[in-house]
Amino acid sequence: MSSLNDPVKLPSGLVFPNRLVKAAMAEMLAGFWNTPTSSLLKVYEQWGKGNWGGILTGNVQVDVNHLGTPFDPALAGEYTDPESNKDLLATWKKYADACQEHGPPAIVQLCHPGRQSLRVAGRRGPFASPIAPSPIPLEMGDSFVQRWMSWFVFPPPREMTQADIDLVTRQFVDAARLMADAGFSGVELHGAHGYLIDQFLNPKSNIRTDVYGGSAAKRAKFVLDILREIRAVVPPTFSIGVKFNSADHNSASFEDTMTQIGLLDDAGIDFVEISGGTYEDPKMFDHPGQPAQSQPQEQKSARTAVREAFFLEFASAVRTRYPSLMLMLTGGFRTRAGAEYALSQNACDLIGIGRPAAIDPNFAKLLLDENLSESEAQLVLKRVAVPFWAKWIPLSAVGAGWESSYYTKQIQRIARGLRTILPV
Ligand SMILES: Cc1cc2nc3c(=O)[nH]c(=O)nc-3n(C[C@H](O)[C@H](O)[C@H](O)COP(=O)(O)O)c2cc1C
Repeated sequence: MSSLNDPVKLPSGLVFPNRLVKAAMAEMLAGFWNTPTSSLLKVYEQWGKGNWGGILTGNVQVDVNHLGTPFDPALAGEYTDPESNKDLLATWKKYADACQEHGPPAIVQLCHPGRQSLRVAGRRGPFASPIAPSPIPLEMGDSFVQRWMSWFVFPPPREMTQADIDLVTRQFVDAARLMADAGFSGVELHGAHGYLIDQFLNPKSNIRTDVYGGSAAKRAKFVLDILREIRAVVPPTFSIGVKFNSADHNSASFEDTMTQIGLLDDAGIDFVEISGGTYEDPKMFDHPGQPAQSQPQEQKSARTAVREAFFLEFASAVRTRYPSLMLMLTGGFRTRAGAEYALSQNACDLIGIGRPAAIDPNFAKLLLDENLSESEAQLVLKRVAVPFWAKWIPLSAVGAGWESSYYTKQIQRIARGLRTILPV
C-alpha cells in the first residue's frame, strides 16, 4: 500500500514528493485589475512552505470578461509570445516563483465560468449575457422569488456560436502557454462544479444538436479539443489535468461520465481530479459525517474514514475501469486516517485538500508527521453558520456561499499575516 509520504510521478514526468495536494480555492485577491497581487503571492509563499506534495492554484479565468467573482485572476487579451508580452509574463512568473520557490510543483487551475458568472463579475458589463453551450439559465430553486433572484444574480446565458467556442478554446490554449512560459509545472482544466467545461459535458446544460452535443462523446469534444491544442504548444514535461464531477452509480449519467473519463484517458491526460457539485447543488461544500458513538473502535474508524471523502466510491469505480489513470480525490479529507484509507483502498493516488489548508497552510506537514498520533493528525471543521438574516435569502446555495466566503476570508487573513479563525 502507498503511504502519504511516497512520491508519485505523473505521465509527463512531474514528480509530487508526497500525496497531499493543496486543492484549488478562489482567493479573491487579484484586485481590480485581475492580476496576481503581492497579497496573492504571500499566501502562496505560505502554502509553498507547508510541505505539500503539490499546489493547485485557485481558479484563473481565461477571459477577464467572464469571471466567477469580481476579483479572480484572469487573462485580458491574447498571449502571443514571451518577447511581445514581457510585462504580462513577468507578473505571472512572480506568481509561479512564489508557489514553487520552496519546492512543491504548482499547477494553475484554468477556468471559464460560462453561465455561472455573477452579473457584477467580469468586464462584459452587468447587462451582457454570459455564454454557455445552451441558453439554459441556472435554477437555484423553484419558487417565483428564487427564480427571480437567480435571474438577478446570474443573468441567463446565450448559446455559444462556433466562433465563441473557437475563441474560448484559444483563450484556454493561450493561458496554458503563458503558464508554461511563466514556469508553472502544469495546468488543470476546471471541468467540475458546473463551470463552462462541465456545462458542455453535462446533458442538463448542453442540449446542442451539433458536433458538441447529443452523446457523451460529443459533449466531451469541447474539453478534448482544448486538451489536444494545449498539448501541441506546451513542452511534453508540462502536466495537464482535469477536475471532473462524479456521478452516482444509479444515475442516468454514470455511464456517460465513465465514457468521458475514458476519452480523457485515451487523450493522454496526466491526472483527473474527482470532485462533485455545482452552484445549483453544491455537494463540494458538504461536511464529512460524524462517527456513530456506539460502534466498536476498529469498525468506527474505518466507517468514519469511508465517510470522510465525499466521492470515494466514484473514484474507486473510475480506478476499476481505468487502472492506469492518475487520480486525485478531493472533498472531505480532514484526518490522516481518512487520507490513508483512501490510498489503502486504491481509490486514488493523490489527496486533494481544500478548507483545512485555508485554516492551516501547514496542514500537510501535520498529516505527514509520523511523530504525531492519529488524534493529533487531523483538523475537524464545523459547518460555517449562516447568520439568521441571511436565512431569508431564498436561494438554495446560500449556505455554500457562506461556507466558501468564510474560507476565502481565512485565505485573505493568511495573506495579511494574521491568524486564521476556526468556524464555531
Ligand atoms: C474558499 C473556497 C474556494 C474554492 N475555489 C475553488 C476553485 O477556484 N476551483 C475549484 O476547483 N474548487 C474550488 N473550491 C472547492 C475546493 O477545491 C474543494 O473541491 C472543496 O472545498 C472540497 O474540499 P474540502 O472538503 O477539502 O474543502 C473552493 C473551496 C473553497 C472553500
